[in-house]
Amino acid sequence: MTKAHDLKDKYGPWALVTGASSGIGEQFARQLARSDIHLLLVARRAERLESLARELRRRRGLQVEVVTADLSEADGPDRVVAAIGDRDLGLLVSNAGFGLKGDFAHLERARTEAMFNVNARAPMLLAHAVIPRLRARGRGGIIFTGSVEGEAPYPFSSAYAATKAFVHSLGMGLHGELAGSGIDVLVLAPGATDTDAITLQGFRRELMPNLMAPVEVAKQALRQLGRTPLHVPGPENRKYVNMMRRMPREKLIAFNAQTMSAALDASGRGQN
Ligand SMILES: NC(=O)c1ccc[n+]([C@@H]2O[C@H](COP(=O)([O-])OP(=O)(O)OC[C@H]3O[C@@H](n4cnc5c(N)ncnc54)[C@H](OP(=O)(O)O)[C@@H]3O)[C@@H](O)[C@H]2O)c1
Repeated sequence: MTKAHDLKDKYGPWALVTGASSGIGEQFARQLARSDIHLLLVARRAERLESLARELRRRRGLQVEVVTADLSEADGPDRVVAAIGDRDLGLLVSNAGFGLKGDFAHLERARTEAMFNVNARAPMLLAHAVIPRLRARGRGGIIFTGSVEGEAPYPFSSAYAATKAFVHSLGMGLHGELAGSGIDVLVLAPGATDTDAITLQGFRRELMPNLMAPVEVAKQALRQLGRTPLHVPGPENRKYVNMMRRMPREKLIAFNAQTMSAALDASGRGQN
């Protein structure tokens, strides 16, 4: 397995992390800083990125640049690519994302489109821009944050799960395309993780069983990069994904519908 301090030797001096202002992305940034990798931190909340950047510069003496960009906007990914400039970027952590839960037809159209853009379009366009740079330097890594929801249909989270299924297919396809090129690609498929995403999706945190710590999720992903196309962190989550893979499709869809609507009901959300 890749140890934290090997990452810089293996992948190079600079990494770009999207969704670095909180949760799993912030922990990716902190872990990469422990490997003395310079960072480009991307998200919308500039003040949170600035505060993290100041801390990492002070503690580790690193170069940490803040890139404020809205990845739901048409030119968001291009703005991020432009910010890379001529830096020797070796790692792309495409992690920004958010989820909308409930009855699909009741979701606000603009928010649904934004979710598609952040979760699926932006990771694809960022990877498309970065791969030629990684190829030119002969070495690199890409991590896509997907979800256990990318592994199966999830009624009442149909569109979010579909964006994650897109990322899973893209990431694992690229893992195969880039095999032998020196570029490692990993899809990270977290289960419920203790970040703002839980409450932002309308769940009550205290009702969520087996929440993983985001630091553990990020650490595992960095260890697994170069080892496997897809990593599901946590034994409970792996058990769940393996169970879903064995279930007949119709049963699986009914099971996930029941699980999701029960979780929404328990949080007082209902399906609308
Ligand atoms: N937590 C879970 O249970 C869980 C489970 C499976 C997968 N995931 C995935 O893990 C990834 C990270 O989420 P998290 O759990 O760490 O939640 P989080 O703390 O809410 O982090 C989401 C990150 O994405 C950024 N982001 C959201 N919309 C954006 C936009 N329009 N433009 C640019 N950046 C945007 C946010 O930054 P700003 O708000 O500052 O823009 C934030 O940094 C997501 O892809 C999520 O789908 C989470």
